[in-house]
Amino acid sequence: MPAKVTDDQIIAAIHKAKGVRVKAANELGLHERSLLARLKRIKAKGHSIPESTYQPGHEVVNKGDYEFTPIPDDDVPIEELIAQRKRKFAHKREHEEASKLIPVRVKLDGPIGILHFGDPHVDDDGCDIEAIERHTALVNKTKGLFAANVGDTTNNWCGRLARLYADQTTSAAQAWRLAEWFVNRCNWLYMIGGNHDLWSGSGDPLKWIAKQQNALYKASEARIALKFLNGTEVRVNARHDHSGSSIWNPAHGPMKAALMGTRDHLYVAGHKHESAYSVLKDAISGITMHACKVASYKIYDRYAKDRGFRDNSLSPCALTTINPALPESHPDLIKVWWEPEEGADYLRYLRSRSK
Ligand SMILES: [Fe+2]
Ligand SMILES: [Fe+2]
Repeated sequence: MPAKVTDDQIIAAIHKAKGVRVKAANELGLHERSLLARLKRIKAKGHSIPESTYQPGHEVVNKGDYEFTPIPDDDVPIEELIAQRKRKFAHKREHEEASKLIPVRVKLDGPIGILHFGDPHVDDDGCDIEAIERHTALVNKTKGLFAANVGDTTNNWCGRLARLYADQTTSAAQAWRLAEWFVNRCNWLYMIGGNHDLWSGSGDPLKWIAKQQNALYKASEARIALKFLNGTEVRVNARHDHSGSSIWNPAHGPMKAALMGTRDHLYVAGHKHESAYSVLKDAISGITMHACKVASYKIYDRYAKDRGFRDNSLSPCALTTINPALPESHPDLIKVWWEPEEGADYLRYLRSRSK
């Protein structure tokens, strides 16, 4: 607590603020808790502190035959609550506005690739952990190749679904160890929280694991603008799932988002554990829009088997190469590869050619 703030200054400030502690604290440059501790001590010395803030509701209630003194309210005064809500909204607005399109400056010259990992479900017995090991190693050894994760990193069974831990040989604690291992395998351009991850609520452990790794972690969606050194901008719109489905077209969700939404260059989604791809042209801007769905590393899925879902997986992931030397409207600005090794070879070729 700064020593220079005297009791007299605090008394003057709290009176001036008409008892609103947050206002007085701001004026004095003190933390609200520090101010509260000082106010308690000042009150104990016999000084008068505005009652409305310190102990509201002390007026005697007279009911004729009896009277009583109401107990103090258990919440902060309304002025303080309004001030808190204003601050909360300001933070929320700042976060939401900055999230609408997150600029990512690519410092590497020339073409790049993104390996979009399908739903990992790393703790599931049906997860191909060897493929995860191989693909994360590929990211690390390929110059210009970045990793991205569309969500559902673990099964994270919660609530009544917690009984499903009985059907897998990993415990909840082991699941988080595997998640940490997975996240620390490579750098992530973006990481999305899937529905399984978000079952943890606001205490999502994956958010904290990702934070340790300085990964861009967003719940449900991440829309990023890759800004290349030559001035090209490529917008990637990734969601755990883009709403909408069609039995005739598995790429319907991201296609709908492209045609009826933000008109970005690349749409990627996971969640349904199926691969899909469609390419569209925006008639207004002339850009080519790629609508993709990536499947999952959970290759053997009891739920899918029980429900009779058709195997629609081409690969557990997709690799997209981006050649910023091509104009925005060029249909080959982005290429999609289902076998990451093939895509990495093409990226190496593109990069060698651009030197
Ligand atoms: Fe999901
Ligand atoms: Fe999933």
